[in-house]
Amino acid sequence: MSTIKSDPTIFIIFGGTGDLNSRKLAPALYNLFLDGWLPQQFSIIGTGRTKLTDEQFRANLLEDINNFSRSGKAVKAKWDEFEKNIYYQVSDAKDAETYKEFGKRVEAHNAEWKTRANVIYYLAVSPSFFPIITSNLAKAKLTTDVERTRIVIEKPFGHDLESAKELNKLLAGLFNEKQIYHIDHYLGKETVQNIMAFRFANSILEPIWNRNYIEHVQISVTEQLGVEDRGDYYDGAGAMRDMIQNHLLQLLCLVAMETPVNFNADEIRNRKVDVLHAMRRFSPEDVRMSAVRGQYAKGWMEGKEVPGYREEPKVDPNSNTETFAAIKFFVDNWRWQGVPFYVRTGKRLHQSSSVISIQFKDVPHKVFPTEATESWQQNRLIISIQPEMSIRLQVQAKRPGLDMILNTVDMVFDYKGTYTNQAPEAYETLLLDTMLGDQTLFMRGDQIEAAWELIMPVLSTWTNKKSLNFPNYSADSWGPESAEALIARDGFNWFSLPLNGNKK
Ligand code: BG6
Repeated sequence: MSTIKSDPTIFIIFGGTGDLNSRKLAPALYNLFLDGWLPQQFSIIGTGRTKLTDEQFRANLLEDINNFSRSGKAVKAKWDEFEKNIYYQVSDAKDAETYKEFGKRVEAHNAEWKTRANVIYYLAVSPSFFPIITSNLAKAKLTTDVERTRIVIEKPFGHDLESAKELNKLLAGLFNEKQIYHIDHYLGKETVQNIMAFRFANSILEPIWNRNYIEHVQISVTEQLGVEDRGDYYDGAGAMRDMIQNHLLQLLCLVAMETPVNFNADEIRNRKVDVLHAMRRFSPEDVRMSAVRGQYAKGWMEGKEVPGYREEPKVDPNSNTETFAAIKFFVDNWRWQGVPFYVRTGKRLHQSSSVISIQFKDVPHKVFPTEATESWQQNRLIISIQPEMSIRLQVQAKRPGLDMILNTVDMVFDYKGTYTNQAPEAYETLLLDTMLGDQTLFMRGDQIEAAWELIMPVLSTWTNKKSLNFPNYSADSWGPESAEALIARDGFNWFSLPLNGNKK
């Protein structure tokens, strides 16, 4: 059971009947409740256009929790206790009455609890609603208490640099920066948080964490799923906007950032934004040389026929949207000068996994005879984020036997073998941090703009010049051949972990 409790809290979830609430938010809140992290007094108010009673909404959430909670089906006694705190309000985001109603509900809870509760407005809605909802919240004076009211915003934050700047400007005019929580759910993942612990709590790493020892870095987030039923959103986004602008660049920042002087939210976020500022800008020629795009064709995945991207529902049959992107980045500072960072992500690939591989330089001189070193592999540190949760250091060792033959072995820290308790889901961590007012694991407006600024030349080049060979990779592959060529030109290969039946 937990010891840190936030103050009494009211969650108002816009998009209460939507997919994000069903799959992630409701199960996360329920698990926080089970594990004793929610305050004694809390209330969850789902809101949306659909007409529902409190009872209907509760029944829907129960079904969602039974389907999606990491703790399995809800236990009746616990659920009965939890559901008393759930309400539903029909709303129209454009209508001032809606916000008056929220105000009344907040006041009623405050009166009942004899306190001033934290109020978290969670925008689990399409980004087209961000301006109207945030403006109306401010207009209704629901967010004047800077200490107690918070706005949580999901990605995508803007469609490009300009729209992100516009949205930042709007929010900055309505709220204080410390009220704004930009979610990137990757930052809440247990293994992603551990990158900072691993780097900054162990003295042996810092001396070698630089261009003198590291040859190159790879960050791969690959997925077996296609776009599913999200074609309408995804076709206007693509892999660059959906994954690289946020999740992959956040991972890159965690690997490349300088050591912060403390664990304060702004200190951490300053060090991360420094990385984005140091990243080399792309000229159109660089885009041609360093960025690769792909789109999946129809094919077979695990014995099932799957449609090509252009045949997916709500996708333009002539779509130029990339479902795969691979890019070579450089971070131009003293620590990383000349070290390539290869990132790749895509849908309908052979394996679902998120892995960071840090390859160290080779030994300066090999003392062993050639026959001893046939399976020679430079040292590699592999941070596996999912589905396997592990950190492994690959080293050379002597194989047991009378002859001197070396092979590569793994020194492994594996969550499964080390801990017995189940890791919380990213959304549990992030919701709790929102309640506690801790912004460390949230993106900041300037960081989002810096990430957009970096990738804009790639996006503009790709928009202006349609790809002539789409679709260019088959389902269940590792993406287009050009992605292999991108890294092979420098003498490396993409790394992937064998899955050991650990499928997602
Ligand atoms: C989301 C993207 O942000 O992240 C999805 O919009 C993607 O397209 C998802 O599938 C991947 O998240 P995870 O946690 O499953 O790796």
